[in-house]
Amino acid sequence: MRSPGTLLLLLLLPTSLAFKPTDFKTCSQAGFCRRGRALSARAKENPSSWHSPYSIEPPEFLPLNPRQPGFTTSVRSSIHPNVKFVLDVRIHEEGIVRVRMDEEDGLRKRYNEAAQWALIGEPLLSEDVVWKMDEGKAKAVYGPKKDMVLVVDFNPLKITLFRGGVEQVVLNGRGLLHMEHFRTKEDSKPAEHIESEGQSVLQVNPAAWFEGDTQDAFWDETFSSWTDTKPKGPESLSLDITFPNHAHVYGIPQHATNLSLPSTTGPTARYTDPFRLYNSDVFEYLADSTTSLYGSIPLMHAHSAKSTVAVFNVLASETWIDIAHTGKSGVETHWISESGILDVFLLPGPTPTDVFAQYARLTGTAPLPAHWSLGYHQCRWNYVSSDDIRGVQNRFDEEDIPVDVFWLDIEYAEDHKYFMWNKKTFPDPVEMTKDVEAIERKMVIIVDPHLKRSNDYPVYKRASELGVLVKPKSGEGEYEGWCWPGSSSWIDFFHPGSWDFWISLFKTKTIDGQWSWTESTNNVGIWNDMNEPSVFNGPEITMPKDNVHYGGWEHRDVHNVNGMLFANLTFQAAAARTDPPRRPFVLTRAFYAGSQRFGAMWTGDNLGTWEHMAVGIQMVLANGVGGMPFAGSDVGGFFGNPEPEMLVRWYVVGAFSPFFRAHAHIDTKRREPYLLEEPYKSLVRDILRLRYSMLPVWYTAFRETSESGVPILRPQYVMFPEDEAGFGIDDQYYVGSSGLLVKPVTQKGVKEVSVYIAEDQVYYDYFTNHAHRPKNRHITVPANLDQIPLLIRGGSIIPTRERPRRSSPLMKHDPFTLRVALDTSGNARGELYLDDGETYGYGKGDVVWRGFGAESTKGKGKGKEIGTVRISSVDLATRTAVGAYDPANEFARSVGDVRVEKLVVLGLGKKPLSVVLDGGRELEWEFTSEGGVLVVKDPAVRVVDDWAVVVKLE
Ligand code: NOJ
Repeated sequence: MRSPGTLLLLLLLPTSLAFKPTDFKTCSQAGFCRRGRALSARAKENPSSWHSPYSIEPPEFLPLNPRQPGFTTSVRSSIHPNVKFVLDVRIHEEGIVRVRMDEEDGLRKRYNEAAQWALIGEPLLSEDVVWKMDEGKAKAVYGPKKDMVLVVDFNPLKITLFRGGVEQVVLNGRGLLHMEHFRTKEDSKPAEHIESEGQSVLQVNPAAWFEGDTQDAFWDETFSSWTDTKPKGPESLSLDITFPNHAHVYGIPQHATNLSLPSTTGPTARYTDPFRLYNSDVFEYLADSTTSLYGSIPLMHAHSAKSTVAVFNVLASETWIDIAHTGKSGVETHWISESGILDVFLLPGPTPTDVFAQYARLTGTAPLPAHWSLGYHQCRWNYVSSDDIRGVQNRFDEEDIPVDVFWLDIEYAEDHKYFMWNKKTFPDPVEMTKDVEAIERKMVIIVDPHLKRSNDYPVYKRASELGVLVKPKSGEGEYEGWCWPGSSSWIDFFHPGSWDFWISLFKTKTIDGQWSWTESTNNVGIWNDMNEPSVFNGPEITMPKDNVHYGGWEHRDVHNVNGMLFANLTFQAAAARTDPPRRPFVLTRAFYAGSQRFGAMWTGDNLGTWEHMAVGIQMVLANGVGGMPFAGSDVGGFFGNPEPEMLVRWYVVGAFSPFFRAHAHIDTKRREPYLLEEPYKSLVRDILRLRYSMLPVWYTAFRETSESGVPILRPQYVMFPEDEAGFGIDDQYYVGSSGLLVKPVTQKGVKEVSVYIAEDQVYYDYFTNHAHRPKNRHITVPANLDQIPLLIRGGSIIPTRERPRRSSPLMKHDPFTLRVALDTSGNARGELYLDDGETYGYGKGDVVWRGFGAESTKGKGKGKEIGTVRISSVDLATRTAVGAYDPANEFARSVGDVRVEKLVVLGLGKKPLSVVLDGGRELEWEFTSEGGVLVVKDPAVRVVDDWAVVVKLE
């Protein structure tokens, strides 16, 4: 992360800036994690005598009003009889269960606002629940089939969700629930030494069997040279969550590991530490580890061939998660968080698609992005001047390599004061941006959250005057830490007073005399980096946990949400630049549950190694599971100088990622595609052209995810939830519902790959049209450096645009090709979604949304058996929630000239007798008997119209 401009700064900083994995805590170095793991170790040692100390009274309304959606009741703890807790259990629409627990009338208040930031609204309560008392337990029966049952055991407290009589999720089944109550130092001694008969004897408080006999890191703890004072004392939260009938768990991004999460404890453990969620700027992170990275989504899917369920544990504080695959009793997990209330949602499934919908209902979906943002992004730390940008753009054009976006990293900003151009190197920022925009391209510019503490920096000055900067532990003044600009402060985005201010900064016209970014254009996208937040001289390269935010909350309470608020406000600011708003593009490094609503993420500072290339795919898949589909990893790897072979393969990974950006560290050699030698340059050009030709597929997939929450990259368990052999596969995936299946090569020297196929179906090679029939569920696909293992699932229709262009907006009037890949029964379907890609006009129906079908039938004609394949296009928009599709809509009118120029039909058994436009003229066609490929040339139909092409076969 070093730049020449920052070298001096680095020399001045403490040696802790030499980033090392040891900059970050292991569980045993975090007091509350140590306490949480000690609790589970004690429980394991005494399995027969161990029981949870928590119990509740039977809810009062039973049996008076059994149709309540839930209940609130007090909880007692036998180890702290004087401490009061309250439990709230509710059943919401879609059968989602919410369980909350808090301390009541405690010495202090636990942080309870994480859900406020993560959720899109208060979830609606179910009206379909009937409670009853049965075997001394409260039971709620609900669901359309009345097969969902939530069982609440009173003593000890345990909550179990059943479907069809089978246990799905159990809370506190292992008795590890523990909410550390607020206490004073005086009354917090679970054990003390007393004098007895002249000897010092350890007098153990009854709580000790449960809490341990030492006050381990209750009031402060030191890590490296930092001491974290804990004015509120211990307040951590431990909860065991078991999935007794599921063998796989997925999710909890962000970690560099397999999609199907390995064990961290017990005999099957692959790692020694639990998975950690604590947004962190980890230098040169490992490609296989449980270490926390830049973002945290506390959502975990549990999956078996019969059921998918999920838990969403809405905590904003540092959280560690132990996972144990136990064979017969499924997967046991243990969640240990530093602070906050217990607020757990159980998402009942029963399929992955249902779970995605349930989570989307709570936290929202990724909105339709600006269409250009699906093109190729060229970034580097740093393009050093306006002329550098112009030069890079020219070279792309000279070499006919498509690109949509040029990025500027931190060196554009004078002294790293974001928004303020370094006029020596960028004397004409608006003209430069307009030169890029002239070819319908865009610029994305970095704006980090740290503000240089300098009164000649209007952004810092105003934030300071408004009093909206994060405060140090004293609660007074401004917290000061070190980041790129040297001495810095951070806006507290929890402070409502910062919101309008931040939004005003992005206006390209001055309003009310306040400083704003007039040296910018309304089209500029924004890159929010370092928002974990990264603080070079802070503990674990972040803010001290005892810093104070709006409302008096400590940084420890809000850490994982912090970065999302920054991206949220930037997204709002970018949208507010124009009236009516246009779709903003914001890229964020830190994220939390709900961040999908505010733009894209990338996997941070990866290394240019094959391992990092491979794990990048797994991480993007995991982000999709976490509801955040607009994701990618730095193509080429951030650190290092990848050899050409690796770079070519990495471009394939990028071209098949929702977010496709090449980026490189300041110390690396330049590696823009036009700099490559042949054949590599042409290979990368072809890969980029392939991405551009498939933009209709990507955009159509984004439409779907924006409504359903189902990720864009779909791993096997999402596509084939009943196929156990696929549950562990995370190196191949499908793109949306398109039927494209890709297996990027992530190893050196590969010549062919084996692709797993879960079904008895034909798959076609995208490039050669070769029809593969899986043998033993695998097909072997050639994968030399100039080949991409890309298959079309039989039964799919893929719309593409095949004219090479310099940028994606230039493709607006280009014709479409449809690849109709017939399944084994001769049928296929597909979709194409289009809109203006910029505005919110789609909300009033300004869209073109087509459904394509191919149907094979048999009939008699002239005494012979005649087969017919009818390929058709129908309007789907009238069936959407976004409004009626009027073919006269503004957008449809603007693309009225767009034709379908070619149909490629794969899997026709025999040569056609004729190909006609339904009810009309004969069409020109060619048939290749080898492979059975029919090419219908220019059927001259418009993409906005209904039409059908009839292929008659003998
Ligand atoms: C860290 C980011 O992860 C990296 O992408 C960026 O280039 C540097 N910060 C400099 O801004």
